[in-house]
Amino acid sequence: MDAGDLDAVHAIERVSHPTPWPMKGLQESLQAHAAFVLEDAGGIAAFAFVQRILDEVHLLDIAVDPARRGQGLGRDLLRRLMDEELADGVNIWFLEVRVSNHPAIALYQSLGYNELSVRRNYYEGPDGREDALLMACSTGMG
Ligand SMILES: CC(C)(COP(=O)(O)OP(=O)(O)OC[C@H]1O[C@@H](n2cnc3c(N)ncnc32)[C@H](O)[C@@H]1OP(=O)(O)O)[C@@H](O)C(=O)NCCC(=O)NCCS
Repeated sequence: MDAGDLDAVHAIERVSHPTPWPMKGLQESLQAHAAFVLEDAGGIAAFAFVQRILDEVHLLDIAVDPARRGQGLGRDLLRRLMDEELADGVNIWFLEVRVSNHPAIALYQSLGYNELSVRRNYYEGPDGREDALLMACSTGMG
């Protein structure tokens, strides 16, 4: 991802989460973390932000254009990050997900993520606070 992608990323972000990151948050994350886009003939179809700390990666945000969901793009993007882009020297991936976000939880489980714990009231939402599942997936040999 580069700065020129941020308008398209923002357009997906704002329709993908109950409390989306504002443009400023996306700009700051692009500077502070690693960020990736998946493009097809229709332009940017999906994106992800990740934070790497030594042998750990934290998936901060992932979203697919709503018009292009259910076609394997979310799995394709995350699998490529885990198996290729961020495979070297990484032993474990972490993420938080809303307990109500069944599509995302199913995606993560299909890639080998397991539930570690529940973070109570982790998320803000239009209907009050919501718990997060903390999930992890071991990827390295160590
Ligand atoms: C979660 C998200 C990234 C999945 O992307 P996607 O491209 O639609 O998912 P894929 O087509 O790659 O599907 C991969 C797997 O996810 C699960 N899945 C995807 N959509 C689903 C749905 N509507 N209901 C249940 N499971 C679903 C399935 O396990 C699916 O595997 P299968 O097709 O073999 O059954 C997408 O729904 C999205 O952008 N959601 C809004 C943002 C978000 O919630 N991000 C995660 C924050 S933690």
